[in-house]
Amino acid sequence: MDIIEKATEILDQGFVVGMPTETVYGLAARIDRPAGIESIFKVKERPFFDPLIVHVASLDQARALTTEWSSGAQALAQAFWPGPLTLVLPKSSFVNSMITSGLETVGIRMPNHPLALELIRAVGVPLAAPSANKFGRTSPTRADHVQEEFKNENVLVIDGGPCQVGLESTVLSLHFSQSERKYQLAILREGAISRAQIEKIMLEQNLPFQFQENPSKRESPGQMKHHYMPKIPLIIIQPDRDHSKVKEELKQKISELPDQIEGVTLIRPTQLDVFYELTLPRDPVLAARELYQRLREGGQSQADVIYFRLMPEVHTPEWAALRDRLFKAASLVLG
Ligand code: TXA
Ligand code: MG
Repeated sequence: MDIIEKATEILDQGFVVGMPTETVYGLAARIDRPAGIESIFKVKERPFFDPLIVHVASLDQARALTTEWSSGAQALAQAFWPGPLTLVLPKSSFVNSMITSGLETVGIRMPNHPLALELIRAVGVPLAAPSANKFGRTSPTRADHVQEEFKNENVLVIDGGPCQVGLESTVLSLHFSQSERKYQLAILREGAISRAQIEKIMLEQNLPFQFQENPSKRESPGQMKHHYMPKIPLIIIQPDRDHSKVKEELKQKISELPDQIEGVTLIRPTQLDVFYELTLPRDPVLAARELYQRLREGGQSQADVIYFRLMPEVHTPEWAALRDRLFKAASLVLG
């Protein structure tokens, strides 16, 4: 039996499997198996208020999940799927409310990975999948990261090689407002598909739209401040800092950190002797691909903390998604 058949059987029985995608590995369950959906939350230790993304292999599957498959949704799906864009749309009755954490909307995307598409086609039903990491921790970009993360839970992982994108998908909510006669768009999470790319498609298709600048917490649950944390604290240091004074200041600041931030336990070093410097390629696409792997390497090193000297270019739009993840992963920013 090949791995896709084996995974299909496990999913049919209402359990989870590790699935490769181009962004990060997911922990997948069939949307029509409530036991499977429940296992996702259990295995991840994820709170029920954080909704899951549903993965499809065809536009027909996507249409069945929503009551509002608009021209806007069609245009964006055609432009960016399969790929790292999640569309948040009004949910249909097909979608179990455990998946959406009780929200009236559902996040849908078509992953750009041959094995993910093959698996969804073999199962014949869309798969709900969050990133395959324990809640609040660094997302996995290789099969062995998933194995490591769930070694006690005995999860089958389909090895699809290292993820090409390396950061989670852009999450975009999309709704056509009848009163204003235009699409209301909001980026709920930054990712590889940029706002400029989305605007370009809407303009080309003559679709009127407006971006909502600061979506409320209610609309983007799960986007907490502290997330994606490595096993030891990550400290971000602004480029203009005097490095000879940093160590003393860090000692003081680390001793003041709380034990937990937003339900995620911080691991506080007892000493500050060994520093692991996180370095990233200067190209934003390559840096995105490497970030989570390097954070893991730092976490597994013998260092007491990981530090990252912020490069000035990190403030440009091409770095938006990476900057978001870095700052959410950090325990401290020395600015
Ligand atoms: O690239 C990705 O999106 C990866 C791969 C596996 O596809 N998945 C992923 O899932 O990052 P997860 O669970 O780690 O993040 C999903 C996030 C939620 O935390 C929430 O912010 C947003 O997507 N989301 C999902 N459904 C939503 C909804 N109905 N309304 C608003 N936000 C939603
Ligand atoms: Mg996640």
